[in-house]
Amino acid sequence: MTTELSSDTTLLQARGLTKHYGHVVAMDNCDFDLRPGEILAVIGDNGAGKSTLIKSLTGAVVPDAGELSLAGERVHFRNPLDARLAGIETVYQELAVAAALDITQNLYLGREIRQAGPMGSVLRRLDKKAMRAGAAQQMADLGIRIQSIRQKVETLSGGQRQAVAVARAAAWATNLVIMDEPTAALGVRETNQVLDLILRVRDHGLPVVLISHNMPNVFQVADRIHIHRLGRRIALVESAHTSMEEVVAVMTGAKPPTSMHTVGADEIAVPALPQDKADNNG
Ligand SMILES: Nc1ncnc2c1ncn2[C@@H]1O[C@H](COP(=O)(O)OP(=O)(O)O)[C@@H](O)[C@H]1O
Ligand SMILES: [Mg+2]
Repeated sequence: MTTELSSDTTLLQARGLTKHYGHVVAMDNCDFDLRPGEILAVIGDNGAGKSTLIKSLTGAVVPDAGELSLAGERVHFRNPLDARLAGIETVYQELAVAAALDITQNLYLGREIRQAGPMGSVLRRLDKKAMRAGAAQQMADLGIRIQSIRQKVETLSGGQRQAVAVARAAAWATNLVIMDEPTAALGVRETNQVLDLILRVRDHGLPVVLISHNMPNVFQVADRIHIHRLGRRIALVESAHTSMEEVVAVMTGAKPPTSMHTVGADEIAVPALPQDKADNNG
């Protein structure tokens, strides 16, 4: 890691997040920790509550209980705009780009630069030149090769489209980027291109939270792995000091989380296994 901040600082922290949907407990006293400069993978079976956790970090879900802090300050995200204003950007698996628009328009979607003076403030004229220059710079900084930033996104491959979505998120995120299964819709070669891009985003100093089902991908890029099960984090491990087999065994409940070396065990309580809890529903 190349961050200047101490590696044991926490950038984004959640404690005790809980979310019920009727009788379904989507999050059950869930904790979360992200360090500056790291790629943190979040893994867990289908229905474990990963998306609900991620959505509460991006303002798309408001938890029933629990606390969130960003760089040591308590934050309350009531909607996705609150999280974006706090410097948190999200990339979703469903290639959330506007196909009919070009790369520049996608990068500046909703954040267009207006021309200086009354042309911009009164007539709402866009400063296309400034936006094209900014877009070209951002794509070059991240090493994303495309023919032209004036290319319509519908002419790009799936991997290139996802690269545009990542470039947009990285351009606006001042604190972190969250990616929920960003390679789920991609083939192997394109997946590798997006993984390389994720590493470059991290190397530019932006931490990344990566939700993924793909264990080889997780081990390829993640510094740490948050293992989610039955609505909460049951372990937080360093990928360099654990194996895929071990992580999968804990994720599926075949092995207890106490069997693995959890990072920062002094600060991170090892929770009781959910099945040990008496009242587990709303
Ligand atoms: N909006 C919702 N309404 C009702 N139930 C939901 C909603 N969102 C998630 N759930 C339920 O919460 C649980 C966790 O879902 P989710 O966070 O999507 O898990 P994951 O992303 O790990 O697959 C599941 O049982 C799911 O059906
Ligand atoms: Mg999900």
